[in-house]
Amino acid sequence: MTTITSVEDFRRLYKRRVPKMFYDYAESGSYSESTFRANEADFHKLKIRQRVGIDISDVRMGTTLFGQDAKLPVCFAPVGMLGLQHAAGEIKVARAAERFGVPYCLSTMSICSIEDVAGATKAPFWFQLYVVKDRAFNMDLIRRAKEAKCSALVVTMDLPMLGQRHKDIKNGLSTKIRPTPRNMLDLATKPAWGLAMARSPYKSFGNVIGHAKGVDDLTSLLTWAGEQVDPSLNWKDIETFRQAWDGPLILKGIMDVEDAKIAADLGVEGIIVSNHGGRQQDGASSSISYLPKIVDAVGDRVQIVLDSGVRSGQDIFRALSLGASGTMLGRAMVYALGAMGEEGVTKLLMILQNELKTTMGLAGRTDVADLNGSDVFLA
Ligand code: FNR
Repeated sequence: MTTITSVEDFRRLYKRRVPKMFYDYAESGSYSESTFRANEADFHKLKIRQRVGIDISDVRMGTTLFGQDAKLPVCFAPVGMLGLQHAAGEIKVARAAERFGVPYCLSTMSICSIEDVAGATKAPFWFQLYVVKDRAFNMDLIRRAKEAKCSALVVTMDLPMLGQRHKDIKNGLSTKIRPTPRNMLDLATKPAWGLAMARSPYKSFGNVIGHAKGVDDLTSLLTWAGEQVDPSLNWKDIETFRQAWDGPLILKGIMDVEDAKIAADLGVEGIIVSNHGGRQQDGASSSISYLPKIVDAVGDRVQIVLDSGVRSGQDIFRALSLGASGTMLGRAMVYALGAMGEEGVTKLLMILQNELKTTMGLAGRTDVADLNGSDVFLA
């Protein structure tokens, strides 16, 4: 049995346990993958202050993110097809999040539906909305999220066109899943995954199939998803969603000062500084290196959460020092889930908690609320 001590350990185990097609789907960025790589690399450029002689017996890491208590300054990012990385993946992550006490955000493109997750958990979760051409479908999703008592609506802004991931096309994971001989061979080496999936009642996109017009099986869904990406998405749409949703409204994918100001002027409660984990605009700045500009511009008006590249408690510390209130975990959560299911996700949270606590202690900090720009520096 592998001893897991870091996010990297989860990634290695995940790679062994989940079909290559789904591993590659998560572990890649668009085009040259330069932004995907910069997201992680730029965290490491930020050095962390080392302080001594301060009583660090009591380190406090709790906070509030978009109105929800969080035991750590962490929440789980919306990730499509989580339920294909591990059977009933969305329910498992939501349960681990609930038990530990951090928020979970369900993707529009999830396998388990809004109702499935609501039925399996008590804590409220957030719902992420992809804006599609069929706006009636979007409004119906908002209605369903309300009925399920979701506590925040996260509108993803950075997908009005699809960035291309070369590996997905080569693996046959695009608008039509192609069972290539290589995929079939690979599946044969992952029998535990195959067995769990065969037994799982959750196999296709629960929020869409049977709800969107003309979509009643996987093939029609994939065609629908490709055609529904809406290049007309603009700020006026946000006003419509604002009227339909009275809870916290959060915009995800903000990577520009001008856009951050428009978002704040629209009166949203929060923004997520994110480049979609390097899956959309290849060549965009890493989110950690752009964060300070956005904090300067709107940090006093909206709550700011950062994602893209967070892989450790040290990274969480760096993001908070530069002004984020919290971090969203995408791939770190996918690795842990794919490697060890719900138990893996709980273990991930414990590892991050220990890493953040130690980093804070060794920097002489005892409360996440005190972290500021003096705690990190560029070497
Ligand atoms: C994503 N992301 C994403 N975002 C979103 O708003 N809706 C979605 O359905 C998805 N799906 C998705 C699938 C996979 C496999 C990945 C890796 C990412 C983006 C996600 O919410 C988040 O912004 C990034 O994952 C953050 O970067 P890291 O933590 O993965 O580096």
